[in-house]
Amino acid sequence: MKKHIVLLPGDGIGPEVTKAAKGVLETIAEQFGHSFTFETHEIGGAAIDNQGTPLPEDTVAACKKADGILLGAVGGPKWDQLPSHMRPEKGLLGIRKQLGLFANLRPVKGFKSLLHASPLKEEVVAGSDLLIVRELTGGLYFGEPRERRNNGAEVVDTLAYTRAEMERIIDKAFQSAQVRRNHLTSVDKANVLESSRMWREVVEEKKQDYPDVHVEHMLVDAAAMKLVTNPAYFDVIVTENMFGDILSDEASVLTGSLGMLPSASIRQDGLGLYEPVHGSAPDIAGQNKANPLAAILSAAMMLRHSFQMNGEAELIEAAVNKVLEEKYHTADLNLTDGVQVSGSVLAKKVSEQM
Ligand code: NAI
Ligand code: MG
Repeated sequence: MKKHIVLLPGDGIGPEVTKAAKGVLETIAEQFGHSFTFETHEIGGAAIDNQGTPLPEDTVAACKKADGILLGAVGGPKWDQLPSHMRPEKGLLGIRKQLGLFANLRPVKGFKSLLHASPLKEEVVAGSDLLIVRELTGGLYFGEPRERRNNGAEVVDTLAYTRAEMERIIDKAFQSAQVRRNHLTSVDKANVLESSRMWREVVEEKKQDYPDVHVEHMLVDAAAMKLVTNPAYFDVIVTENMFGDILSDEASVLTGSLGMLPSASIRQDGLGLYEPVHGSAPDIAGQNKANPLAAILSAAMMLRHSFQMNGEAELIEAAVNKVLEEKYHTADLNLTDGVQVSGSVLAKKVSEQM
């Protein structure tokens, strides 16, 4: 298959980890006879420095034409003093919004060899393998009005959704459950919020279309507790924007290693932006210390979710697992009895396992 991939390396360790992920994609192309072409564009701080804006038009235009987009990270102290509309993060929010990427997918998996790094007891986190599907372009973060009133004595934010917005994210979650363990937990606050009551209705309607998926409803406060008491209980969690923001950050610490977590922001036609959950790590940038595995696992997500290349994605994930089992690691993983290597060597080890 032929696929065109836009690379947005960004700032700090972004370029290092993006390069590592590109190398793994090239190995996949070679082994499976695919043809991947790559085109690199600027976003974030690098774009501010060279083009005066965090999201240049040619970057957006290239992304619109791509089959998949792989992003490193944006930001850093160099740009911290800029006004908010000019900051690197604007580039990231802008590209998600301009491309209409409404579904944020964050898998969290407890790799066996890293369980000791979890803040939870090993026996609690063991077996965790969940996917959070978060609605990304609606709800409280976008609803209008949002304003101070009455000379600052009152304030209002708005939690608004259309039925269509709910349907598309809930469909995405059911479909994700079908290719996993067929267990969907829909998280809401239906005992209090009208929007959550409608969310439940939509889930109940949609479940007719996915009879093979076992679906349940859970209140967000209960879900927050269960995520730290029994994370292995979950397969796919689907929820609205704000609940998803909070739960996905809660879930991301379960495995104890920021350098391992991939994410995707996608839309119905399959176009997606794939990026590690971590930031630009200015403290270690340019030293070849950055853990490339989150970026590599993000590339695997691109193969699965945008290119329907499940076997290829699984091969990458198995190779990452193998490398960790052989105890190769970057400094952040803190594997005391293993072999500490640089980011680029770790990426090479992954390709060698494939
Ligand atoms: P961060 O995720 O960049 O770093 C937090 C800590 O984790 C640092 O000690 C860093 O060295 C370490 N770390 C992160 N990724 C690593 C990796 N792959 N390998 C090894 N160690 C890793 O978060 P921080 O420090 O809060 O933010 C730094 C900059 O990144 C800020 O400008 C922030 O705005 C930006 N940022 C960008 C994000 C994005 O592009 N999606 C997300 C989060 C932060
Ligand atoms: Mg967050």
